[in-house]
Formats: sequence, structure tokens, C-alpha cells
Amino acid sequence: MSMLSNKVAIVTGAASGFGAEISRLYVKEGAKVVVADLNEEGAKKIAAELGGSAIAVKCDVSRRADIENLVAAAVKQFGTVDIVVNNAGYTHRNGSMLTVEEAQFDRCFDVNVKAIYLMAQSVVPLMRQKKSGCIINVGSVSGMRPRPGLVWYAASKAAANLVSKAMAVELAPDGIRVNAICPVMSATGMIEDFMGMANTPENQAKFLGGIPMGRLAKPIDIAKAALYLASDLADFITGVELPVDGGRSV
Ligand SMILES: NC(=O)c1ccc[n+]([C@@H]2O[C@H](COP(=O)([O-])OP(=O)(O)OC[C@H]3O[C@@H](n4cnc5c(N)ncnc54)[C@H](O)[C@@H]3O)[C@@H](O)[C@H]2O)c1
Repeated sequence: MSMLSNKVAIVTGAASGFGAEISRLYVKEGAKVVVADLNEEGAKKIAAELGGSAIAVKCDVSRRADIENLVAAAVKQFGTVDIVVNNAGYTHRNGSMLTVEEAQFDRCFDVNVKAIYLMAQSVVPLMRQKKSGCIINVGSVSGMRPRPGLVWYAASKAAANLVSKAMAVELAPDGIRVNAICPVMSATGMIEDFMGMANTPENQAKFLGGIPMGRLAKPIDIAKAALYLASDLADFITGVELPVDGGRSV
């Protein structure tokens, strides 16, 4: 029995990294997936890989019109929306907090926080009608246990973590579960900005000391957590900030 049979999911930032892997695992487990990304070509590539169970939609998650179009496309193609994974993210480059430009600060909060608000405005009414739904926000361990260099990004991810709990309590009577996944560093498209240096084995080693399990996260680690939280196995789980971090947040 597949864990997500007959479920329809929207995954944002799904052209690469965690979002692509979440989309792959969701389809493997029986879901229909809307692969949403700013990078249209990348989204199309992932959707094509997934065959008839996926469509690609170009979307800037920080824009209301794009989010409304995304949700409408999901309903048009697959009939409803059961699961949303707000995974698209943006970071300023790792560095002194005073060197981050105002536009980068704003982009962190637009993509990492405002997008959750815009998505809620579009999908919560639909989920309320059905009295069921699952929203997963990809926060970050940096929003729980910050380290130097990512101050404003960490602040936006702390907001993403917190809003998951706040939404969870408000939406619980509607049968809508909301949870956050808080990954540790992973070698995806964002890693050089997170490290503030080239992605070499020597540089990665500088970050491994803080991770008790001694390795970076792999996209499949995040995908497995996203599968669990979206599945019936987690039907009494809401408002958690789930670290997927090899012990880094302890
Ligand atoms: N990789 C890590 O170390 C790490 C750690 C903790 C949290 N995260 C979070 O995980 C999430 C996924 O990132 P990733 O590591 O897979 O990086 P990634 O760069 O591989 O993927 C991010 C995707 O988001 C898309 N995107 C960016 N801005 C967008 C926008 N405005 N609208 C739509 N799509 C947009 C990009 O085009 C890209 O495909 C992000 O929210 C990130 O902050 C990453």
C-alpha cells in the first residue's frame, strides 16, 4: 500500500535539491505532484522525469498572483490540493550581518516567510472545506540554533518554524495539520551561500564537527521526513519543528 495514494501535493522549489527529492518520493508513494519553481526549465525536467503523475508550474512564491495561479493549476489538473510543501528558499551569502544588503534581507523574508502567508491564503479555504489538509514548511535548524554568518536568513527561518506552530493551533479544528522540517546543511544548490566558501570536501569538513552523526543531510533524508509528515502515520502530529540534522540541534 502506497503511503500517499490519491493525494495531490504542491511542492515549491521543486526543480532541485530537497524539493525535487520530495517530489520523487511523493510520486513513488502514489501522489500526484505539482512541481513548482521559479526555474521553469528545471521544474519541467523534474515533472517529465515523473511522468503523468506530475506537472510543472513556473512560480515565484513571493508573488500573490503566481501562488493563486499555482493552486488553480493544481485544482485544474488533479482536482484538489491535499498537501503543500513550502520548500522554496532564499539565503544571503554567509558573512557578517552588517554586509547583507537590504534587498537580500527583504528577499529572505519574502521567499521564506511571506510565501507561507500567500500560500495559506490560497489553500486554507480549500482545505477548510474538505476538513483536511497538510502543510509542511521547510524551515531550518539555523532557525532553532543559529551560528554566525547567516543572521537574517536564520531569522526568516525562525519565523517559518514558528509560523508552523502558530498555524497548527489555529487550523487544528479544521483538520489541517501544519509542521516544520528543520534540515541541517546539505550539498544542494544553496550550499556555497550557506558556507560562504567553495563547496570542497575540505570546506565541508569545517561544518561536520557540529553534526554528531558526522555527515551533511542528504535530500532523501528531508524527503523521508516530508513523506512521514504528509502520511497517515503522522495523523496526530501537528505543530512540530522536526530537526532532520544528525543531532546538530541538540
Ligand atoms: N541545503 C541546505 O543546507 C538547507 C538547510 C536547511 C534548510 N534549507 C532549506 O531547504 C529549502 C530547499 O533548498 P535546497 O537546499 O533544496 O536548495 P536548492 O537551491 O537546491 O533548491 C531551492 C529551489 O528553490 C527555488 N526557488 C528559489 N526562490 C524561489 C521562489 N521565489 N519561488 C519559487 N522557487 C524558488 C530555486 O529555483 C531552487 O530550485 C530552502 O527553503 C532552504 O532554505 C536548506
